[in-house]
Amino acid sequence: MTERCPLSSIGEVAESAKASNDPVEYPTDRLSPFDPPPVLSQIATDSGPICRLVYPDGHVGWLVTGADVARDILSDDRFSARSELKRAPVLRPSAAPFIGKPALPGWFVDMDRPEHTRIRRTVSERLSLRSIRKMTPRIEAIINLQLDLMAKRETPVDLISAFALPVPTLVICELLGVPYERHTEFQKASRSLFSLTASAAEAADAMHQLEGLIREILKTKRHSGADDLLGQMAHDHNLSEDEAVGLSVLLLTAGHETVAGTIGLSAFFAIQRPDVRKVFTSQPDSISGVVEELLRYLTIFHHGVPRTALEQLVIRDHLIQVGDSVTVALPAVNRDPASFDKPHLFDLQRSPNKHLAFGYGIHQCSGQHLARLELQIALAKLFQRFPTLRLTVAEPEVPLSHAGFHGVETLPVTW
Ligand code: HEM
Repeated sequence: MTERCPLSSIGEVAESAKASNDPVEYPTDRLSPFDPPPVLSQIATDSGPICRLVYPDGHVGWLVTGADVARDILSDDRFSARSELKRAPVLRPSAAPFIGKPALPGWFVDMDRPEHTRIRRTVSERLSLRSIRKMTPRIEAIINLQLDLMAKRETPVDLISAFALPVPTLVICELLGVPYERHTEFQKASRSLFSLTASAAEAADAMHQLEGLIREILKTKRHSGADDLLGQMAHDHNLSEDEAVGLSVLLLTAGHETVAGTIGLSAFFAIQRPDVRKVFTSQPDSISGVVEELLRYLTIFHHGVPRTALEQLVIRDHLIQVGDSVTVALPAVNRDPASFDKPHLFDLQRSPNKHLAFGYGIHQCSGQHLARLELQIALAKLFQRFPTLRLTVAEPEVPLSHAGFHGVETLPVTW
C-alpha cells in the first residue's frame, strides 16, 4: 500500500532502502514476441514489486513491477503525469521536444487534475461504452471491406499494412471526422512521433504537420454542422482552438497505432494457437474474454507509464523523494503472480482478469471501449474469413517493432 510517511520513520527507511537496492536499467530485449523481456521478469522476481531504476540521464528513480503497487501509484494524486516532470526509461530522441516540457494544449495525458478533468470530460461522452457501441455497424463495415480487399490480393500478404493498420486508421478517421484521404500524412507523422530512431527535429516537424492538418479540418467543421468529434470540438466553448487541435492530435495518434499493434500481435499469436483461433471462429460468447487475455498477455506498452512523485512518501518500505521518477512497467505488472494465477499461462478462461493494459486511475485509457470493440470484431472476422490463415515465414523471422509500442513490423501471411 502507498502510505503517507510519518517524518520520524523517513530516516530509518532511507537507510534500509539505500542498503538493499542497486539500481537496474530498463530492459527491453525480448526473447519471445509474446513475453516481456526476460530480464524484466527476473527483476520482478528478484526485486519486485518496486526497485530502483536508473534513467538515461543518470537520475535514479523507481521501477514498479507489481500490480498492487502499480494501482496504488496510478490512483494517487501525489504522483504526477505532468510532462514537464516526466522522464522516459529509454532514450528516444523523438520524445525530446515533448517530455520534460510543459504539456501541449489539449494533451490531457500529460496533465494533472483539475486541467486533466476539464479536458478529458469534453470527449468522455463520445468515447463512452454507450456511444461506442453505436459504432458497431460502421466498424463491421470497415472491417468487411478491408477483408474483401485483402482476399483479392495475391499472397503472401502483409497483414499489418493490409489489415491491422488500415482498420483502426479508418475507424479513428470516422470517429473524429478526418477524411481518410489524409491518412498517409498522419500515419507517417504519427510514426515519427513514436519512433525510436526519428530525430528530435523530425518529431517536432511531425507534430507541426499533425497540428496543421487538424487545424485545417477543424476550420471546415465550424460551418458544416458535422456530427463527428471534430465537429463537436469546433463548437465546444470549453476548449480553446489550440486545445481542440491538441486533443484531436492526441486521439488521432493514440487511437490507431495502439490498436494496430494489438491486432497485429494478437493475430500473430492466434495463428500459432488453434485453441485461440477456435474461439474467434466458433465461440462468440468467449471472444470478449479472450481479447482481455490477449491485452493482458501481450501488453504492448513496452516502456510502461511514467509518473513523478510530488511528495515524499513511503511505498513498501522504500522512501520515495519529491521529484523521483517512477516507471510502471505494464508488461511486468500484467504478469505479476500475486495478482494473476499462473501469469505466464495464456488462459482462455481467465476470470477475473483485472489487467492494467489500459493503465489505471484517472489516466486509464479514454479509448478502451473503442479499442475492445475493434479488437473483438477485427479478430473474429479475420479468422472467420480466413480460417486457415498462416505465416509464410518461420516465426523467428517475423520482424518485431520496438517503437513506442511493442508489436510486429510486418506479418507475411497466406490462407
Ligand atoms: C489496444 C489499444 C490501446 C492500448 C493498449 C492503450 C493503452 C493506454 C494506456 C496504458 C494509457 C494510460 C497512459 C498513462 O497512464 O499515462 C492510455 C491512455 C490514453 N489512451 Fe489508450 N490505449 C489503446 C487504445 C486507445 C484508443 C483507440 C484511443 C483513442 C480513441 C486511446 C486514447 C487514449 C487517451 C486519450 C489516453 C489518455 C487518457 C488520460 O490521460 O486520461 N487509446 N492508453
